[in-house]
This record gives sequence, C-alpha cells and structure tokens, in this order.
Amino acid sequence: MAFTKVCLIEDVWEGEMQSFQVNGKEVLLVCTDGGEIKAFQGICPHQDIPLIDGKFDGKKIICKAHLWQFDAGTGKGINPSNCALAEYPVQIDGDDVLIDTANVEPLFAQG
Ligand code: FES
Repeated sequence: MAFTKVCLIEDVWEGEMQSFQVNGKEVLLVCTDGGEIKAFQGICPHQDIPLIDGKFDGKKIICKAHLWQFDAGTGKGINPSNCALAEYPVQIDGDDVLIDTANVEPLFAQG
C-alpha cells in the first residue's frame, strides 16, 4: 500500500501530538523537540488506552493510565523498557504529512 495523507505539517506543532484514524488504524502523530514528525501506534501496548489521552513533553509519550513512558524519537519503552510502540514510516510532501500503514502492526506487551 502506498503512503496515505494524514494531515498538514501545521496541524502538529513542535511538542504536540494528534491522533488520526488511518486505513482503520489508530495512529499517533507527534512533533518532537527539533521539529521531526513521527508516527506511532495510537493505542498503548499495555492495555486498550489511547495514547492521545496521555501526555507528550517533546521527548516522551506518557500513557495516562499507568504512566508507561515511550521515547518519542524511537518508540522504545523507557519505563518499562521491555515494550515499544510500533512506528509507521512518515513522508513529508510539501505541506502534507503522509504515512504508510502497510506491514506495521501495533505491538502489545508480553505477559
Ligand atoms: Fe498505558 Fe497501562 S494502559 S500504561
């Protein structure tokens, strides 16, 4: 599948996050400190909680439910460290933000 337009660059400001439904998947877009746009699974890998309801400080995404923390640059778990967010490839085309949801499945915590 090809890249799908999600929004405009100006829709996600540095240090902010937004959630979108893309091809039936819940996707979290963040704009990290430094202005890089990243796309991750929108649902916490711990339980069925939307990450958009949590916090984002420009570096870390923090789930509201049990405060799991994820590195916004890589999606890797910070606390706990044995989890991660699946990351979608992002493409910037002019003012448009596109992501490719093919071949990326959300991750869930083990055990
Ligand atoms: Fe996100 Fe528990 S549901 S930390």
